[in-house]
Amino acid sequence: MTGRRLLVSFPLTPEANARAAEVFGATIPERALRTDEVVEAARTLQADAVLITLSLPMGAGPIARLPETVRVIATASVGFDHIDLAAARARGIAVTNTPDVLTDCTADTHMLLLLGACRRAKEHVRNMDAGWATRNGFAGGLGIKVSGRTMGIVGMGRIGRAVAQRARGFGMPILYHNRSRLAPELEAGARYFASLDEMLPNCEVLSLNLPGGQGVLMTREKFELLPRGAVFVNSARGSLVDEDALIEALASGHLGAAGLDVYQQEPDYDRRLNALPNTFLMPHIGSTTEQTRTAMGMRALDNVAAVLAGERPPDLVN
Ligand code: GLV
Repeated sequence: MTGRRLLVSFPLTPEANARAAEVFGATIPERALRTDEVVEAARTLQADAVLITLSLPMGAGPIARLPETVRVIATASVGFDHIDLAAARARGIAVTNTPDVLTDCTADTHMLLLLGACRRAKEHVRNMDAGWATRNGFAGGLGIKVSGRTMGIVGMGRIGRAVAQRARGFGMPILYHNRSRLAPELEAGARYFASLDEMLPNCEVLSLNLPGGQGVLMTREKFELLPRGAVFVNSARGSLVDEDALIEALASGHLGAAGLDVYQQEPDYDRRLNALPNTFLMPHIGSTTEQTRTAMGMRALDNVAAVLAGERPPDLVN
């Protein structure tokens, strides 16, 4: 049907695939397409909408080569730092994301990273894989106590607040740094620091929960401001972190541990991170549950449907 041609560039979950196929007549590819393949497929289809996700960079070059017909790039992710918003705007292409629906799962993953890093889960899982080859004894395999540690959150948006809510359940006092101070009901007792540098020395756990696309935040100087033994947790974006500085801080013991879901290079991440004993690493799985991935697919399709119906999409980001 003219005006409703949707290019789906990767397999969604079965429910979302079914809706894309039934409502938009979309063909679901067997594997995620690369950016050049998406551009080619969009040209062949004369697509009106393109559905992508965060592993598919849409810079100014590919956006310029999309056909005239494209009216929306819908990304099934909350982050949109993989899309050149200005280039899309210049071509009159709407860009939409999928906020809210992944907040809980991303915050849950964040706690997994915190617990896994502090309690040396990597080492203990490896030990079990080896048939409980090492007996730790009373004073071996000791981790870092999570409950009661002070957590500093950088980025107190939806995900940051969901992390704070969970951390409060662990009896953790919450500090936060954000562009602006939140209303008291959103702050929920968390202490605001207008200056990140002033907050860092007070953070026994530092939690990154802000969007990417704004350069490196965690430089060597910033890591040095953390107290010795602090734990670093990042489920936001690897681009926010100087990984050489992070590795040095972990190797020297200045940082006690790090739980990471995101990296400067994905999937080709810096293997030195995994070689360190005090890291717990996940392959960018923040929102990876059946329920949430379906909800993200559906939300992306809601945005596509709105644009193609001539309406303002609920999650317009440009
Ligand atoms: C996850 O990183 C997302 O942006 O959805």
